[in-house]
Amino acid sequence: MAGGCCGESEEKGERGGGCCGPKAPPPSCCGPNITSACCDGEEDLTKVQEGVKEYYGEVLKSTNDLRTSACTSCEKPNPKVAQVLNKIPKQVTERFYGCGFPVPLGIENMRLLDLGCGTGRDCYIASALVGEEGKVTGVDMTPQQLEVAQAHAEEYCKGGLGYAKSNMSFVSGYIEDLSSIEPGSIDLAVSNCVVNLSTSKEKVFEELERVLAPGGEFRFSDVFSDRVLPAEMQNHKVLVGECLGGAMEVNQFLSMAKNAGFMTPLMVSKTPIEVHDKELAAILGDTKFDSITYRVFKIPEGDRLGEEDSKTVSYNGSLELSEGAYKVSADLTLQAGERHKVSGDVATILCKSWIQRFFDQHCSGCCC
Ligand SMILES: C[S@@+](CC[C@H](N)C(=O)[O-])C[C@H]1O[C@@H](n2cnc3c(N)ncnc32)[C@H](O)[C@@H]1O
Repeated sequence: MAGGCCGESEEKGERGGGCCGPKAPPPSCCGPNITSACCDGEEDLTKVQEGVKEYYGEVLKSTNDLRTSACTSCEKPNPKVAQVLNKIPKQVTERFYGCGFPVPLGIENMRLLDLGCGTGRDCYIASALVGEEGKVTGVDMTPQQLEVAQAHAEEYCKGGLGYAKSNMSFVSGYIEDLSSIEPGSIDLAVSNCVVNLSTSKEKVFEELERVLAPGGEFRFSDVFSDRVLPAEMQNHKVLVGECLGGAMEVNQFLSMAKNAGFMTPLMVSKTPIEVHDKELAAILGDTKFDSITYRVFKIPEGDRLGEEDSKTVSYNGSLELSEGAYKVSADLTLQAGERHKVSGDVATILCKSWIQRFFDQHCSGCCC
């Protein structure tokens, strides 16, 4: 529906707050960045989604078939993850299309959800890291991807990890509708280069907020653009499939996360994406893309400290392979044993989320 999803009243900006208001460029209304609520183009959104399914189910056969570096990671795994990677079946890793390593260490016994798990590389990593008592659920809409993930799970868990049975389950479904997952039943959600592909990103964040337990985290690596993309990019099948056409502009993402009820997201890392394919580069012009990893925490309103309530905290050095320092975000690394004064927002995350096990809070005066 390039060029014209807005009716006359919307063009005059009477819709208020939607994509069709005066601030939004009308022609880009109906691409993957916009919710179906904004446009009448439900059909167009389904078409985009079907195109993505076809791209991952039929067009791409392995990582080598990708035409840009958007869906691949040059980030090095830590030694523990590298060891786990060696045990993961080749059929799973050769169709990895993610852009980072969003599964952290220190997640023993946790309940993890992978949105758009594909052939399951990150689920297989998480399966080893949460241990036999933990639980990993992968959701994906493309049958060919899920088949690979499912096919090797039992053998990997029993033969590779020595578990009595698999701690992974794979669900065929859409990340915009996680109704098969109980509210508050997930401690950590991850996603690797998938949210950009969603045609209803707000719904993804709303669903995440519903399924995460209080104190839970959504940690994801995805593609972000330096501007809201025009319709011809948002509707370009290959650009969308390559995770560029649906890339979020950072401020769009920040407001979606806020509207869904999350704390202000923390950026962990940012890597520029290069597009070497001449045909695609010509369409993209000077638009810049980055692969960014964000941490998004769910903390109930009543548990949050005010921004002015700064606290003194220290990292207790208990996270494996990070005994000397804990990286909270790109801007904040806490040295073990040192006291740091942090803002109320950061203190809320360090003291009220699942990562509180790594931190001590120091009281001055009567109470913490
Ligand atoms: C770029 S691949 C990444 C796959 C996997 N995370 C990885 O790292 O290999 C995108 C995956 O997201 C899935 N996907 C895209 N949009 C989806 C949606 N709305 N609901 C469920 N799965 C989706 C695709 O089927 C595909 O397997």
